[in-house]
Parts: sequence; C-alpha cells; structure tokens
Amino acid sequence: MGPPEEGELRARLERAGQPHLLRFWAELDAAQRDALRAQLDAAGEELGEHCRRAAEACAREREGPGGGQRLDGRMRPVPPEFLGSACRSDPATLERWEEEGFRQISQNKVAVLLLAGGQGTRLGVPFPKGMYDVGLPSHKTLYQIQAERICRVEQLAGAKFGTPCSVPWYIMTSEFTLGPTETFFREHGYFSLDELNVVMFEQRMLPAVTFDGKAILEEKGKIAMAPDGNGGLYRALTDNKILEDMERRGIQYVHVYCVDNILVKMADPVFVGFCVSKGADCGAKVVEKAYPAEPVGVVCCVDGVYQVVEYSEISSETAQMQNPDGHLMYSAGNICNHFFTLRFLQDVAAKFEPLLKHHVAIKKVPYVDEEGILVKPLKPNGIKLEKFVFDVFQFAKNFVAFEVPREEEFSPLKNADTADKDTPTTARRALLSQHYRWAVKAGARFVNSSGKKIDEKCSLSGDEDPPAVCEISPLVSYFGEGLEKSLKAKVIPSPYFLDKDKAEILTHLPWSC
Ligand code: UD1
Repeated sequence: MGPPEEGELRARLERAGQPHLLRFWAELDAAQRDALRAQLDAAGEELGEHCRRAAEACAREREGPGGGQRLDGRMRPVPPEFLGSACRSDPATLERWEEEGFRQISQNKVAVLLLAGGQGTRLGVPFPKGMYDVGLPSHKTLYQIQAERICRVEQLAGAKFGTPCSVPWYIMTSEFTLGPTETFFREHGYFSLDELNVVMFEQRMLPAVTFDGKAILEEKGKIAMAPDGNGGLYRALTDNKILEDMERRGIQYVHVYCVDNILVKMADPVFVGFCVSKGADCGAKVVEKAYPAEPVGVVCCVDGVYQVVEYSEISSETAQMQNPDGHLMYSAGNICNHFFTLRFLQDVAAKFEPLLKHHVAIKKVPYVDEEGILVKPLKPNGIKLEKFVFDVFQFAKNFVAFEVPREEEFSPLKNADTADKDTPTTARRALLSQHYRWAVKAGARFVNSSGKKIDEKCSLSGDEDPPAVCEISPLVSYFGEGLEKSLKAKVIPSPYFLDKDKAEILTHLPWSC
C-alpha cells in the first residue's frame, strides 16, 4: 500500500485533533513531505490518543507530586529481610555470593544491558554521554571504561572456573544516540570485545505535546520527538527480538544499568550472586541516600508492592522523614542498576508492558510559530511522556534490594562542570579516589614529580581530590583485585596510569624524602 494521499492525511489529522501539523505543507518540498508523512505514519492512529493522554497526565501532575495522588501515606521502606548489603555482610557471605556470580558468568548465563537512549540534556553535550571523557589521565570515555570492565569480568570468571566465557553487551540507543554510538564503537574496534557480543538496538520515540494537547512542530515539516523513557526498554526488547537473542545464547540473568555512573560494576558477580542465591526474579542496587533532596529515586513499597518513587515525585516532608537512629527513613537510593531474570523480562514483554504508566516530563521544546519562525522557549512549553525502567518491580514475584557503598559504586555524570554535583569533576575524582585507595591498600607509595614522598590518606571525603593520581585500567583490575603483584612496596610517581601493558614495569624509586 502506498503512502496516504494528502486528503486522507488531512482527514486523519482532523480526527486526531492535530490538523496544524500540515500548516506548512504547501511550502514543503517532496523530500520534506515524505519525511513528515513517514513520521505521521509511524505515529499512526494513536497520535490523537497520545496527545490527549499527555495533556491529561500533565494537568494531573500539576496538582502535585505523584500525579495529584499523594504517595506519602502509602509508602513504606523496604523491609530488612528483602534488603541485602555489601556494606554489612560478613566477608564469607560476600565471598559466597561472588563465587555464585562468577559461576553464572563462567557458564555464559549473564548479560549486561546498557540504557543509553537518553539525550543527556543536563550535561549539555551534542553527543551520547557514553562518549564523554571526564579527563582521566588515560582520557578513556565512559563507553571504553565499561567495555574494559566487561572484558576483565569475563577473564576473572573464566580463570576462576577454568573455561573461557563471554558476557554479551546489549546497548539500548535512541534515534539520537544510535548512529554516533555505532560509529564510535566501530572506530574503536569495539574496544577489543567481540563485535558479535555487542548488540545495539533502538527504542521508540514519542511526539512532544503542548499543554493543550497539540503535537509540536520543531520544523515546518518535522514533529518534535523524544525517546519514550528508559522504560521504553520493554517495547524495544520485543520490537528488536532481543529476548530471542538472549535465549539463543543461553542467557538467564540480565544486569541492566544506566550509562552515566563512572563506578558501575558491569555484571557485578556479588550482586548477581546475591540475587541468584535469593531466587530473585528482579533486584535493584541501592546506596544510602546522601541527603533528603538528593536527585535519586527511592526504592520502597507503595500499597504493598515494590516501586521506585522518583525524586520528582516524592514530597519534601516524606523525603526528610527519619528513623529513630537519625537515618533517613527512605534511604534506599536507586542507582539504576537492576537485575532481571530472562523469564521475568519475557513475562513483562508478553503481559505487563502495556500496564506501565507514563510519567510526565515538562520540558522546553523548540518549535516553529505560526509564521514558521523557530522559537527557543525560555519557559517549559511541552510535555514528554516517558515510561520508567523500574516500573516493572511491581510485577516481581521475588524482589530484592542490595545496598552497596557509594564511594565504591556510584558517581553519576549528570551535569556540566558549572554545577556542584554529579559533574565531570566529581566523576573523575570518585574514580581516582577509588583507585588511590586500591593502590595504597595494595602497598604502593607515591612521590610527586620532584621525587618527594606524598603523605598517605586513607579516608577521603567525596569532595576532595586524592593526594596522588593513579588511574588503574579496568583491564588490570575490576574491583581492586590482583594489584599487590604490581604495586606492593612500589614507589609510584604521581600522576600515574597503570595500564595492562605497563603492569610489570613500575618505577622503583628510592625514598627521597
Ligand atoms: C535515573 C533513575 C533514578 C536514579 C538515577 C541514578 C530512572 C527513570 N530514574 O534518574 O531513579 O536515582 O538515575 O543516577 O531510571 N535513558 C534511556 N532512554 C530514555 C531516557 C533515559 O535509555 O528515553 C537512559 C539514559 O541514557 C541513562 C538512564 O536511562 O542511562 C537514566 O536516565 P536519566 O534521564 O539520566 O535518569 P535520571 O533522572 O538521572
């Protein structure tokens, strides 16, 4: 069937309450008309319904956090029996979980899935966040760091169980990020991973809508579109037959994570082992929230089911509530690191996805005015509807949360360096502080460029730079393991980059202080 004729298109848009989308039709050339037609065809008969739903959801949202239905009275903290902890468990238990995780990895049953379809508006760069270099000595990007952690965890699991294994890397992109991400990986030879184990796929886009329910034209012949949120994952898994691909490879467990956390532990054996040991179908890593208004969602129960209440949806009174011991009552901060069994993802795709609600994001959306002139609004003027990846927790039969230490596992890159928190500077500092701690623990000592000893500092606050700079390649160490061999009793000139090929050739300077 050919493209709908103009008359039919007009009639369809009249029915959907969106005739303004053809306002500039007469001025468009053939290619522009084809492109607009293609957009309208992709939006299909659901366009009118989508616009109505967006305007209604926005009106509800403006009544208050949680869509006007206050969540406060319905929230409960995660019960302690469903909250494991890497911070409070004894070493033998942690070792048991780690061993279990490595076993599953060595049997090729674990995959990682990166959510990388976001536009990274707050960071303000015109390329995908994963391509960002936070200014480490090696200048590695987030994508490269992640690729090398996958490589290392495969090696560790393989060595432990005496069998080569692989951890496939699924990367969800969007119209904004797919092209540049593909090119970047190709140009970097997939960072030495097997190209066949890196699977990129694309999530859907949805039209941005005005407060009165009209789709927005960002050009005379182009509707403003935005990715459908990281919960668009579940439709994208079906659209792109990703679950079939996982099944073919024998994957049983999937570690889903977001792109911007420089400390993310890909396929973390401890987390995977913990979830598998508990028989969980769904799990979330959390860190203790740093302060009530921190922009992280909190994992909790609402009306008896597990949920993340997003930072934009919790009232400040609830966020500030404390336990008798002075800790925040809702302290399980979501770091967007989730565990799912393949079976659970299959159930979500088959049964639950349509039940996921849309969340409203109110944004500044550039548009063309009635004269066709581009306007960049100073105030929010548009609604984007998004699904959230964690909204499937409510369908889990056995949900668990797992608390991890923030300084080891969470430092997200959200903002440009003009902000105070979650910036390139704070991400770089978090990684270099972690590597400094590992190096000191392994027995290294540091000198500056003039050979003068740098005094050791074991407890570093998140706001300060480590006294010496020592970046350790993920290809050398995944979580601080195995460094004694290279670093014990060595004197390292700061700054230093411990790379795979340099692991054995450190300087042996005599103490000169
Ligand atoms: C997210 C979490 C929040 C958590 C915080 C920790 C969600 C909805 N919120 O918030 O609870 O405390 O991380 O850092 O998960 N993405 C897509 N497609 C999209 C939109 C986003 O793939 O359409 C990806 C992004 O590329 C990113 C991840 O999802 O990797 C998180 O998105 P972002 O918008 O940064 O979420 P936050 O608001 O920071």
